[in-house]
Amino acid sequence: MKAEPVNFHFHDLHPATEDFHAQVIAGLSQQTKRLPPKFFYDERGSQLFDAITRLPEYYPTRTEIDLLQRHGADMAEMLGNDGLLFELGSGSDIKIRVLLDALQLQTYAPIDISREPLRLSAGAIAEDHPQLEVHAICTDYSKPIDLPGVFDDERRLAFFPGSSIGNFDPLQACNFLRRIAKLLGPDGRLLIGVDLKKAPARLHAAYNDRQGVTAQFNLNLLTRINRELDADFDLEAFRHMAFYNEKLGRIEMHLLAAEPQHVRVDGCCFDFMAGESIHTENSYKYSIEEFQALAAQAGLASLRVWQDDDALFSVHCLKPV
Ligand code: AVI
Repeated sequence: MKAEPVNFHFHDLHPATEDFHAQVIAGLSQQTKRLPPKFFYDERGSQLFDAITRLPEYYPTRTEIDLLQRHGADMAEMLGNDGLLFELGSGSDIKIRVLLDALQLQTYAPIDISREPLRLSAGAIAEDHPQLEVHAICTDYSKPIDLPGVFDDERRLAFFPGSSIGNFDPLQACNFLRRIAKLLGPDGRLLIGVDLKKAPARLHAAYNDRQGVTAQFNLNLLTRINRELDADFDLEAFRHMAFYNEKLGRIEMHLLAAEPQHVRVDGCCFDFMAGESIHTENSYKYSIEEFQALAAQAGLASLRVWQDDDALFSVHCLKPV
């Protein structure tokens, strides 16, 4: 096994394992059947999400990277160059690498629930930035975090890219932002990527790509349930559906039963009528003003916002008030 670099530290806070079984049974037992989107990301699901981020129709990832590249110096000025930078969720490392190049920080602390991918990506960053102390923290950032004392004296910055905030409903998003504001303290700053409201056709295309990768990503949830929970979903009998719900300002993803179905999950039976759906994800879109209002409710004031020329995506710099 390769030795880890001396500037790399791993803090395992032993996040509780999600009860996949209980949450799937509970979700399928509701009148409107639903499954939590956090379960998309098994190994295959993470690979499919990675493929989504490279699709021609899925503009958020490349637009956000472009904003970070073009405005990195400005963002660094807003964030300040002292302190430690938390990254909430550390999927692909392209964005953080761009940001770290723009900032001159001493400490980078990625927080993620997936132990081995976190160890790998944070270890690689430590190796490529020998002057940076990298403290990887394995925990669930969507729950209150009890941080190790090593971070007590440093000013705190946080980076939450990808518009993952859009996968919370607005009330959950507000509660989450309030917790982050508390974690950062009065001198802290949050840099957060938020997908913007736009023409529904553009949104529709981004979640209904022509190669069908998003459909595979959605259906992979049923493959995972079959494999891990001894279930018998017929994958041919469900189809991907995603649409923009203009009234609620969100993309909704569903899996639709093409014909009446009878499905067993670990001995429990679930009936589906033809056309009945399982609601698998919401992805909220915000105008700049709407997001600033949500952040203000959570105790975060807007310092600056960047958006691309086509107004597809925004990156906000916020400060606890
Ligand atoms: C992770 N999250 C921000 C993505 C989104 O756009 O809401 C997940 C996704 N679902 C389908 N395509 C991408």
